[in-house]
Amino acid sequence: MDKESSVKNRQQAIPALEPAIFVIFGITGDLAQKRLLPALYHLLKDNLLHEHTEIVGISRKEITPEKLLAGVELCVLEEDNVCDPATLERFRKALRMVQLDPVKKEDYDMLLTTLNGIETAHGMCMNRLYYLAIPPQVYEPVIQNLGVCGLQKGCQHHRAVSRLLVEKPFGYDLTSAEDLIKNTGRYFHEDQVFRIDHYLAKETVQNILFFRKHNPVFASLWDHEHISAIDIEMLERLDVKGRGEFYDNVGALRDVVQNHLMQLLALVTLELPAESADSLTLHKAKQVLLNAVQPIDMRKHAALRAQYVGYREAVGNLHSTTETYVRVRLDIANNRWQGVPITITAGKAMETKRTAITVTFVSADMPRMRNKLTFRLQPNEGIDIELTAKRPGYENKTEIVQMDFSYRGVLGNAEHPDAYERVLVDAVRGDHSLFATSQEILAAWRVLQPALDSWQQSSEDLLTYELGSNGPTT
Ligand code: BG6
Repeated sequence: MDKESSVKNRQQAIPALEPAIFVIFGITGDLAQKRLLPALYHLLKDNLLHEHTEIVGISRKEITPEKLLAGVELCVLEEDNVCDPATLERFRKALRMVQLDPVKKEDYDMLLTTLNGIETAHGMCMNRLYYLAIPPQVYEPVIQNLGVCGLQKGCQHHRAVSRLLVEKPFGYDLTSAEDLIKNTGRYFHEDQVFRIDHYLAKETVQNILFFRKHNPVFASLWDHEHISAIDIEMLERLDVKGRGEFYDNVGALRDVVQNHLMQLLALVTLELPAESADSLTLHKAKQVLLNAVQPIDMRKHAALRAQYVGYREAVGNLHSTTETYVRVRLDIANNRWQGVPITITAGKAMETKRTAITVTFVSADMPRMRNKLTFRLQPNEGIDIELTAKRPGYENKTEIVQMDFSYRGVLGNAEHPDAYERVLVDAVRGDHSLFATSQEILAAWRVLQPALDSWQQSSEDLLTYELGSNGPTT
């Protein structure tokens, strides 16, 4: 499919969006600059947003839109990284900056006046999307001030909605997540809250349920009688450069396991809802599954953590015990999955980049033979299947062969939306399917909390590994 037709397809697939103001807290931060602004630019360029769309950047420091944009690689999602001058101009016009101290209530009154002013200038009510791309420690004061100053109420004529978009990590542990959810609920209805997990918006991740539903050959084998293990890995070559301060307060378990990887686990193992199921039914199925995952059993050493050599110097904290690598072994206590070991591994500064879910099939009659099905998220998104075949020749020797489907190979250059574009579009249209609910978040914390508790008591178990290696040798 050529580029033009794929843009047309996307335009047709998305129902017309409403006028909106994106209010980005933390616009000078890494996430906004690397992911959100390029995603907004790309959506504007493909005319996927309403013509009345504005972007309000919030920053503690005074900074002009020009200065902000000078430091952003806005067009990374474009072919050859080249910006279209007309879209660039439109983007510049849509962007304005507001200087605001998150803990100062009067600054929010001023923000409200700015938003009302934008609507007056456009002559219409516009949906307001407050995007918190800020460190989690600041969520609570921001949410409280938005609420106290009435910014959660929608536009001045009450004909549009306000939504809160929150980036993970949602809380620091189970108790703080419960508090955050409770405090958010004082001002924002659950319907207004969009907890972003950009993994859910990745094309390959959406394909997991689709694949499970539409391929009877696998659907009929999807249980403990046929599957002997499920492995979920997220190995990154990236270290924590540029994000040391954030990362040192978080670590691998909170950064990616509690959210992205637990969500992947849910999608691979949940009971499939009916074909026509809505977002609520899907969330219910995820929640039931996550509730069945047993809390990590630390007596069985089911969580291993490690830190790469040089990390402490990189983050400027010579006593840091933050893990940059983690491996946890989980069990699901339900009929379908009893006895199937689930392993989740995540690591920074690894030798190779690989994000994948591997499902290993065995048969009771042929325990030494196996097939593997892998959902490959990165690199080269796709699915591959390992089969056992006979090696050509006179002997009956077996060989593992691979059938490989890659999006790029099969679908050519057809564009699939960047995960953050999808997140933004779904939030504007109020579709919760690809966001995490408060109950899912709490269920995931419940599973991981024993590891956090045990790590807090002692750091004796913290292993090390070399930068650019395969992780700790255990
Ligand atoms: C983020 C984590 O949520 O996901 C980062 O905070 C990680 O540490 C990133 O690098 C990976 O995202 P992706 O889409 O590149 O796999």
